[in-house]
Amino acid sequence: MHFLSKRTNRRSDEYGGSLENRARLLRELIEDTKDAVGDRCAVVVRLAVDQLLGSDGITAASEGHDVIAMLAELPDLWDVNIADWSNDSQTARFSEEGYQERYIAQVKSLTSKPVVGVGRYTSPDAMVRVLKSGLMDMIGAARPSIADPFLPQKIEQGRAEDIRECIGCNICVTGDNQCVPIRCTQNPTMGEEWRRGWHPERIAAKRSDRSVLVIGGGPCGLELTRALGQRGYEVTLCDQNEQFGGRLLLESKLPGLASWHRVVDYRLQQIQRMANVQTLRGSPVTASEALEFGASAVYAGHRAAREFDETTAQTDSVSFRREARVCSPNRAHA
Ligand SMILES: Cc1cc2nc3c(=O)[nH]c(=O)nc-3n(C[C@H](O)[C@H](O)[C@H](O)COP(=O)(O)O)c2cc1C
Ligand code: SF4
Repeated sequence: MHFLSKRTNRRSDEYGGSLENRARLLRELIEDTKDAVGDRCAVVVRLAVDQLLGSDGITAASEGHDVIAMLAELPDLWDVNIADWSNDSQTARFSEEGYQERYIAQVKSLTSKPVVGVGRYTSPDAMVRVLKSGLMDMIGAARPSIADPFLPQKIEQGRAEDIRECIGCNICVTGDNQCVPIRCTQNPTMGEEWRRGWHPERIAAKRSDRSVLVIGGGPCGLELTRALGQRGYEVTLCDQNEQFGGRLLLESKLPGLASWHRVVDYRLQQIQRMANVQTLRGSPVTASEALEFGASAVYAGHRAAREFDETTAQTDSVSFRREARVCSPNRAHA
């Protein structure tokens, strides 16, 4: 990309200057790679056709178009996107599913080779639409696969309701930006597959007949309930509000953030199918009531734990913490 762009390519030899010269390296790389691999495998080129820098960079209307036209039949597959990363991995706050379609359509019109594109595709309906319309030949899904690596399999099996849809929050991207391990709001197992042996779909069966009371049905309490329910424990989830979701109920009402409600929808949908999980809405619980409930373990969500501290005498709060087996959500897998 930087070699192609006159903004960054300042060379004065045959690899700089005109677009043809700036594209020479890419052309030679494709040709040499094809020579080296022969018919053993396909050679794919991913190219950002617009840097969204206007006339300061490559734009789909000018050089983005021209370079694809110039190399149209060389690769075996074109993988189209836009630069830089912040434009490529746009958040739900600022863009809809399929936000790169006009760029993909242009490339498709310039080549007879298959084209793959991206654009936070999580909905099987949208995927069918773009394939049937001929807009692209394959759908790329980076964040949707982080949120649910089994997305293709679930579509194939007709289990669309089990898809853990990416919410477009870009927590995954911030991990990279801050050089810390990747995290995903929708898929808590992301990045822990090797270190902790966590699997996005499978979880160890329960190791005892303990019952669990989860106080607070925010995102954390919902996920804890879902994971423990999947393990087979008897779980009771209660929340003082009439609706589960906690902070997400408010956040998802902000402009552009409706998709964040998927965090609640996915978990509630899974929980409601579990005979071993009971949910109690509009059920405030004090520390002593939690102890009296008689569950073998109590998980008090962040807000519930804080409220116990504030509303109960300190001795009560301390005894609550000592007597109840207060778990952290990470222990759902233990
Ligand atoms: C965590 C993360 C890492 C990525 N790493 C790369 C990368 O190494 N190379 C690349 O070309 N794109 C990378 N991307 C961009 C994606 O390939 C994709 O173009 C972009 O996220 C838009 O597609 P999506 O809406 O399906 O996520 C990355 C995206 C994410 C979220
Ligand atoms: S963190 Fe997960 S849910 Fe959020 S954008 Fe990344 S993949 Fe999607």
